[in-house]
Amino acid sequence: MTDKPRVWVSRPTFPGIVVRLEPHFEVTVEPEERKFSPSELATRLATQDAAIVGLKDRIGAAEIAQATRLRIVANLGVGYDNLDLDALSAAGIAASNTADVLNESVADYAWALLLGSARRMNAAERWLRAGHWKATEFKAWLGTDVRGRTLGILGMGRIGQAIAHRAVGFGMPVLYHNRSPLPEATERACNARFVDKAQLLRESDFLMLVLPLTPQTRHAIGAPELALMKPTAVLVNVARGGIVDDKALTAALRERRLAAAGLDVFEGEPALHPGLLELDNVVLSPHIASASTETRRAMTALAVDNVLALFGHGPHAGRPPTILNPNVLA
Ligand code: 8YV
Repeated sequence: MTDKPRVWVSRPTFPGIVVRLEPHFEVTVEPEERKFSPSELATRLATQDAAIVGLKDRIGAAEIAQATRLRIVANLGVGYDNLDLDALSAAGIAASNTADVLNESVADYAWALLLGSARRMNAAERWLRAGHWKATEFKAWLGTDVRGRTLGILGMGRIGQAIAHRAVGFGMPVLYHNRSPLPEATERACNARFVDKAQLLRESDFLMLVLPLTPQTRHAIGAPELALMKPTAVLVNVARGGIVDDKALTAALRERRLAAAGLDVFEGEPALHPGLLELDNVVLSPHIASASTETRRAMTALAVDNVLALFGHGPHAGRPPTILNPNVLA
């Protein structure tokens, strides 16, 4: 045992990046990706000075009750609904996320889901792989064009803005709704217009969800909201499961009250609402919108930077770059 502070990394990441902790910390990296129970988390955190965790690690008052040495929880994700920020702040523990470094990857992926849903790529591939392609039929697999259609964005933070920038190339007017309108200059740069939520739902041909999951945004898209949408509309969710009521969405897709959906996140994931798997008008993916090598490396580096900085090391010594509760440093 050394007298260096200890950091626990709850999943394998990129050893070449995590190694930057080693001059300053005793580092323990879990050898495999798994879901820890609340008591396993509590036991691990009890002996650590810092932790790098992911979305599966739900950390609240119970998990930190014995963590008397813990000074920072660095989340590998921009969303941090897995952390009870109030409980961490009350215990004087800093929390950080991976804001910004994943904006472009997630925006790209949201567009991949949009285009894949509009042009039915996944269903067509499944059909081809199943050996059904005997002849090219002129009127088979007709999708819908996106050019000139209205893109709606619910949640216009930095990822929403990155999505809006890409709409210019597709010739799509952009509407958005957010807690508050963006400054005019930002709106102009995104070529986007603020509308209320009902108008967004009614007018969007493609609706992208990019808002955080909070008690207020749970089921922001449920049966009443789906009923406002055009039957020809396509819904894309790269934000969080739980923002959409998956049962209501499945019914709307099955009954063609909504044309299609592209979903990277699910209520209760990795379990899926069973009805979703039976539908051919939905593109499904396993929560991978930020999963490019470059971005996952950048997320790891940012989590490491936050830990180093809190302990006075590295390029941001004393100022963790993406701290969520700066009040604990005061
Ligand atoms: C995950 C995400 O962090 O950043 C987020 O909020 O949902 C993703 O980038 C990623 O899947 C690692 O768990």
